Amino acid sequence: MRLANLTLTNFRSYRQLDLALSPGLTVVAGDNAEGKSNLLEAVYLLAIGKSYRAAVERDLVSWQAAEEGGYAMLAASLDGRGGPLELRVALDCGEAGGGVIKRVRVNGLPKRALDLVGLMSAALFAADDVGLVFGPPAGRRRYLDVLLAQASRRYAQALARYQKTLAQRNALLRAMREGRAREDELAFWDESLAAEGAVVLGERWARVPGLGGYVAAAFERLSGGGALAVDYAATAEPSPDGGANDADRAEAAIRAALQASRRQERAQGMTVVGPHRDDLRLTLDGAAASRHASRGQARLAALAMRLGEARLLAESKGEPPLLLLDDVLSELDERRRALVLEEVVSYPQAIVTTADLNAVPRSFLARACALRVSEGRILPEEAA
Ligand SMILES: Nc1ncnc2c1ncn2[C@@H]1O[C@H](COP(=O)(O)OP(=O)(O)OP(=O)(O)O)[C@@H](O)[C@H]1O
Ligand SMILES: [Mg+2]
Repeated sequence: MRLANLTLTNFRSYRQLDLALSPGLTVVAGDNAEGKSNLLEAVYLLAIGKSYRAAVERDLVSWQAAEEGGYAMLAASLDGRGGPLELRVALDCGEAGGGVIKRVRVNGLPKRALDLVGLMSAALFAADDVGLVFGPPAGRRRYLDVLLAQASRRYAQALARYQKTLAQRNALLRAMREGRAREDELAFWDESLAAEGAVVLGERWARVPGLGGYVAAAFERLSGGGALAVDYAATAEPSPDGGANDADRAEAAIRAALQASRRQERAQGMTVVGPHRDDLRLTLDGAAASRHASRGQARLAALAMRLGEARLLAESKGEPPLLLLDDVLSELDERRRALVLEEVVSYPQAIVTTADLNAVPRSFLARACALRVSEGRILPEEAA
């Protein structure tokens, strides 16, 4: 799969962009606030069906178009194994001041945003990825969810249903706390939460060991011998007699954990156990990474998690993902830049942004397609 063309209309700082992309390494240079992150955000949105950084989707529509009740349009042409693929997302502001309506088309046919996930697999390396190490569990869960949703349709669908069920169960727990609902209504939601959660948890149990292996190998290469372990920390632990396979064990584990947490969830008015409360435990040379990693080590650990993500995606899809590196090179020393780029160029296609073109070693730049982003336009570096 290769991203051949990207078209943006009224997407953030891009009024109209029509960009042909080559295979191999593309380097997009640009000063601060010229639109480097916006560009990668657009590509990644087409891969995962939503923005990785916008709090509200209305922010994705250029301010002027949003004001006028207009729309943003993102489109990608892919050369896939199964022939060409056209992905299109429209964000329609409709009435000024309201939300946006998202419309997705694949090869011209209307689809749900969820159906987009996995068609163009991509891994995004962001400058604030150190949050994966130092930040709260939610960031690590999102990392895992976005990765596994791309890797497995079943996971993506189960996760969406799990989140819906969870919201309804939480609403019921709140109502119970306020005396507006009875406890016997819970049994139904316990069952469906355990059933959907089992797919999510089972898949995480099945995939995290492999992912951890890739991350550890990448970290060892980058750090020159350091040991980074990634383990799944579950709020619902499997019992030895839980069942024959991961999904059965996961279902039994969630059911038991829900039972055991009854008092706490009644008091708090929310579901306190399950995959939405789990975490990835990062251990660096035997100690908790969040407390013991230096800034530089955390940066390498985050990079290793992204490289591991890319490897797992390649393995599970049978096809390497598109790599998107947003301004991550400038923070690294020269040796690390070369190590990261060596691995990056082993993928068929990668887009790397940088505020400083000198952050890309000459040997890589010589082989890359170099572009410059300025004032909402993207031109070949020498012509810019
Ligand atoms: N909805 C929008 N409409 C118009 N402009 C927007 C919108 N959202 C963001 N912008 C603008 O887009 C500009 C470019 O943002 P972007 O994050 O892509 O910059 P960048 O090149 O990555 O900069 P940096 O080097 O600082 O990371 C910013 O000035 C921002 O204000
Ligand atoms: Mg940026």
